[in-house]
Parts: sequence; structure tokens; C-alpha cells
Amino acid sequence: MPSKSRSRHNPVLLFGRNFLKHPRMLGSVIPSSRFLIQQVLAPVDWNRARVLVEFGPGVGTITKDILKKMHPQARLIAIEMNQDFVGYLRETIHDPRFEVVNGSAADIGTVLADRGLGSADYVFSGIPFSTMPEDVRVSIVQSTADAVSKDGAFVVYQFSPKVRSYLERAFASVDVGFQALNVPPAQVFVCRPHRNGNGRGK
Ligand SMILES: C[S@@+](CC[C@H](N)C(=O)[O-])C[C@H]1O[C@@H](n2cnc3c(N)ncnc32)[C@H](O)[C@@H]1O
Repeated sequence: MPSKSRSRHNPVLLFGRNFLKHPRMLGSVIPSSRFLIQQVLAPVDWNRARVLVEFGPGVGTITKDILKKMHPQARLIAIEMNQDFVGYLRETIHDPRFEVVNGSAADIGTVLADRGLGSADYVFSGIPFSTMPEDVRVSIVQSTADAVSKDGAFVVYQFSPKVRSYLERAFASVDVGFQALNVPPAQVFVCRPHRNGNGRGK
């Protein structure tokens, strides 16, 4: 068994230990694969994006890639419920463009408003929608649809298809992809407020 202090500094051990404590909140025993990360970040227009939000960054597996790719003037706000992960991210990521908030994805509206930000260009999410109560799922999907800019996108990766119908009700278009090279294999939903993705369609 890994000791608590060793797992605190090793992201994979920290993630695994937290999976044993909160399996329904994490949904996966190991962080996302590089194949899944590539697929989740593929729809982003990095030159244009200035406000990015990540729900459930965990130990920062996708966060670090977002920071590598994003514009020097862009901001990334991560919203994470698990305090161990929040502490780890604050200790290990030192980038003035990055901030981690300890809270729920449902708070996205307040988190943006408190920072004087009207909307998010992209929101990324791997939080396990299938294991949360229905009212929480509906509230997170609707708050995110309200928060995404008209030419932005909500990119969701999931191990269960359950959230798809909720996304389809809240967004004008939902493109569905699949990534087999991840444990477990994942579906990727790219959700846009407008059908043609440029905010001029309706
Ligand atoms: C499958 S893990 C994904 C971790 C990381 N993004 C990755 O891809 O490896 C899901 C993460 O979502 C967090 N989480 C679960 N429900 C959440 C919620 N309502 N708001 C914010 N974070 C949440 C968990 O603590 C966990 O870090």
C-alpha cells in the first residue's frame, strides 16, 4: 500500500487513492490517456480562445496540455470538488493564467461572474454525470449551456452515454466521438450553442 505522503506527490497514486475513497465522484481509476486528451482538445481554436474552464481537473492531466496550448493572454479556471486535488494543483502548477476553484461545476455562472467574465469560450468536462443525482446533472448541463459563448463549445468525455440526451436538450448541436485508447474507453461529446458552430446559424 502506498503511504499517504508518497501518494500526495505522485499524481497517479494520488488519483488511485482518491478513486478508492470516492469511486462515484471520480468515475475512473487512472487519469485520461494522451489519446483522449488529444481528442478532447482537438475542437479548440487556440488563437481565439481567451476564457477556458475545466470541470474536474483531478491531478491536472488535461490541465497541463491546455496550459501548453493556450494563448499567453488566455485564462484557465478549473473547478474541482475534491480538496486533495485542489491542494495538489495549487502546489504543483504555477502559471499566472491558471486558477483552481474548490467547488462544483454547477457554480460556473458565479465563478465567471465573480471574475468579471461574461462567458467561457470552451468548457472541458470529465466529471461523471452518470453517477450524480438527476437534478445536479440537469443543473450543471444548463448552467454550462448558459455560460458558453455563442461561438464556443462544451467538450464532454464520459464512460457512460447517459448524459447525451441532457446535452442534446440544452445545446443546438452535439457531435459524438469515441476513444478506445483510454481506460475505460470514452465517448466525447462536442456541444455547441449554435448548429454551425459560429454563432450565426440561428
Ligand atoms: C474522471 S476524473 C477526471 C480527472 C481528469 N480531468 C482526467 O481527465 O484525468 C473526474 C474528476 O471530476 C471531479 N468531480 C466530480 N464531480 C464534480 C463536480 N460536480 N464539480 C467539479 N468536479 C467534480 C472529481 O473529483 C475528479 O477529479
